[in-house]
Parts: sequence; C-alpha cells; structure tokens
Amino acid sequence: MPNRALPEGLALPARRATLRLLAGLPITLGASLGASLAGCGIVPASTASRTLRAGPGNQILGEQFARPTATWAFDGTSPGPLLRFRQGETAEVDVWNDLPEPTTVHWHGIRVPNAMDGVPHVTQAPILPGARFQYRFRLEDAGTFWYHPHFRGHEQVTRGLYGALIVDEAIPPAIDDDWTWVLADWLVDDHGAIRTDFEDPRDMSHAGRIGNIVTLNGRATTTRSTDLAPTPLPAGTRIRLRLLNAASARIMMLGFRDVSPTVIAFDGHPVSPHPLPSNLLSLGPGMRTDLLIDVPSGRFSVYDRTDPRRETIVNTFTGTGTARTRTAFEGPPPNPLGEPNLDRAERFELVLEGGARGRLRSARVDGKMVSIEAMVREHGMAWAMNGVAAHDHAHEPMMTLRRGTSCIISIVNQTAWPHPMHLHGHAFRVLAVNGNPTAHREWRDTAIVDANGRIEIAFLADNPGHWMLHCHILQHQRGGMMGSIRVTG
Ligand code: C2O
Ligand code: CU
Repeated sequence: MPNRALPEGLALPARRATLRLLAGLPITLGASLGASLAGCGIVPASTASRTLRAGPGNQILGEQFARPTATWAFDGTSPGPLLRFRQGETAEVDVWNDLPEPTTVHWHGIRVPNAMDGVPHVTQAPILPGARFQYRFRLEDAGTFWYHPHFRGHEQVTRGLYGALIVDEAIPPAIDDDWTWVLADWLVDDHGAIRTDFEDPRDMSHAGRIGNIVTLNGRATTTRSTDLAPTPLPAGTRIRLRLLNAASARIMMLGFRDVSPTVIAFDGHPVSPHPLPSNLLSLGPGMRTDLLIDVPSGRFSVYDRTDPRRETIVNTFTGTGTARTRTAFEGPPPNPLGEPNLDRAERFELVLEGGARGRLRSARVDGKMVSIEAMVREHGMAWAMNGVAAHDHAHEPMMTLRRGTSCIISIVNQTAWPHPMHLHGHAFRVLAVNGNPTAHREWRDTAIVDANGRIEIAFLADNPGHWMLHCHILQHQRGGMMGSIRVTG
C-alpha cells in the first residue's frame, strides 16, 4: 500500500481528459447542452444507481487503539463509499436504514429538487429502521460534494455517517491524479470508544464538540512526523486534491510545507485559480476546497495546525526526480448557476446571537419567548437567529422569496464564536467578509462568519421549496442555530 492515508477507492487512478473525451462524449456535453439533447431524444437519459446502507460499523481509527471503534457508518466504514457520478447524469441512490433509529440523507451542496433534500418532516418522512428510501436527482453541477444524515446529525454524523460525492465535469481538466481527503474528528475515550455525550451542554454553547483525534479518510493523523514514511511521487505530477471537512465542529486549519498549492474550487464550484494565501487553508465543517498541486522535487507535507501548539502531520510525500515545468492550469468550467442581479436584489439581515459569553437574554422557542436560562435548562438550546431558536426542522421560514428573486443576505454574528453557515438547495456568492469585498466573489454553500464578524452573500432564489439555512457546527444547529427560507413558485 503506497500511501496509508489513501485507502482503496479514495486514492483514485489518473484520469486523462483525452480518455474521458473518447469514453464519455455523448453524455458529457455540459449540463444545458446535455439537457437539450436529452430533450430531443438524441441522447438516452442516463441514470446511475447506487445503494447505501446506514448501519453500525467497526474500524480501527489509529495505531494507538488495540480494538476497533464501534461507529455508525455508510456501508460499514467511515467515511462511507465515495460516490462518483458524471455531470448531467441522474443519480438514483437507495438508502437502507440498518440503524436503531430513523435517519435521512442530505446531499450537501447538490442543487436537488426539494423533495430529495433529506430534511426530516420537511421534505420527507424519516426513514425508519429497516426501511428504505430512494433518492433521485439530476446532477446539474460538477464538483466535490458530500452526503450525511440530517436526522439528529449532531449524533449520527458525529458517530461516522458521511461520505464524499464527486461529480466529474463534462470535460474534466487535465490532471494526473485525483485525490479525495475526508477529514473528520472523533471524541473517544482511552480505548477508542466514542463518547456518547452528544448533547453536552458545554460543547453546545461553546465551540461545539471538538474531537481528540483527527482522521484523514478514517485513519488518525499523527503528532510525530517520524511516524509517517513519506510517500514517493514522481516530481511534476499534477494532483487535484479534494478536501472535505466532515467534522461536527472543528474548523480545521491545514498548512502546506515546501509546496505551493493553487485553489481551484470552493464547495464544488470553480474559482479563478489562485495561490493559497500563506499556504494555509481554513476549512470549516461542511466545507470543501479543491487544490491543484504540482509535486515539487523533495519532501513536502500537509499538517494540521488548528491548534498551533499541537501541530499534527496529516501526510507527507517525497517528489522523486526533477519536476518538469508545467503549463498554466486551466480550471474546470463554471457550473450553470443563476447569477443574482445585485442591483435589484432584496436585502435581508440575519443576526446570530447566543452561546457562552454572548448577550442573548431570551429568544422565541416554539412560538413562546423563553429566557436564555430556560432555553438551556428546558430545551438544551443556546442560540438564536433573528430572535428565534428553531427546535425542529419544520418551522416558519425566516424569509419567503418568489422564485427568480435575487437576494442579498448580511449575516451578522453577534456571538463570541465563529459559525460556518450553510444554505440548502442553492449556491451563493460571497460578496464581502467583515466589510471587505472578496477578491473572487466565490460561489459557496457554506461560509464561515467570524466571531463578531459579518458576511454578505448573494444568490438567485431559483429552486422552489423550503430550504434550511443553519450553522454546520452540528451542536449549534441542535442548539437553535437553524432557520429556513422558502422559495415559492
Ligand atoms: Cu451538510 Cu443542512 O447540512
Ligand atoms: Cu455555529
């Protein structure tokens, strides 16, 4: 095994654009063209079927543990299988529930029809133990996405239920290797058993549940760089590295040493290729970043410096031979997203409040004003959005938009904690962070709002339905930091 951090299936073989062109031309002409061709009956509609089983699993998370950890996982391992489709294809995924409780699957970042969004009691009834649900949706966008339950996510995701979902571009960019790294963390006891205090009130009102081991594709990272033999790679190899943070709370800070990656996509959507600032990547829960790495000669490594006092090595490599000079990288083409009209947009403000060291005194819970003390004591909640702490997925929407409306939301964080905010069913442009316009106006589905900071996002409300907008720190979501928007029509 050349690379211990890339178990089978996640270390993907080289895919060459030319081969792909030959193999895939008829159905890979790009979403809109493909759609119109399909409409004329020239191209047979293509459906790709998969099965996922959510159930108990067992796996060794790290060398320090003698026994495997009992998890909940898709198809027995965490991360679950890498689901891979082609843009324009229709995905048909049968989900079986072998868990002792109900579940659903949410396709994070994929612009699905509302009924396929996996939100319990809003878009579907929960899948009961022993039952099955078939999800079916067309993949309009290419990129790096993921799947996870939306039913009691603060426990189900935390126990290991998640996996990556990749949609290949109609014409994929020219690269030599395509890697997917699913990062996560686990809060375990000395024997590696998952701690079951999923609703710990302190975690909920502070930074969320931060684990004590960080894993890359299900295996613990290491604090000693000598533990890890560098994986040899031919210098000059061009790698697309897809990073996904599936942790329930940890905002990861990844560092790249002796290598200079180029950012090519955020949350699945291409961004104009640019150097990773300071070779440091901040990746909040739910977020993805695609990097392009041209392997240099000599040793280089990726490390986790979320806690700067305790750096851990995520992976290390040696580039063998001399690097060729590579041509400039042409990023993947943009996804077919509707552009918001900023001049005619409706504006909203969304104020985040609560948590430890916050100023929130009371909020509306189930329609009643409740003091912060009673929120914590009686409801296990500590957060509010625009004065409302949502208990359940089914609730009054915070805003209702006619289909086709352009919308700018200022998310104002009046708490002492950062929050990765996620919108379902759409991607949004990040216009400004803490009052500063962003350099790339990148598309995202999840964006971090700094403690006491603010962001401005814009999107075209073009997907009808009831869409969650929530913090992806799952304990915050459980603690009230969840709302929704409704798009009518
Ligand atoms: Cu990744 Cu509403 O979730
Ligand atoms: Cu939060």
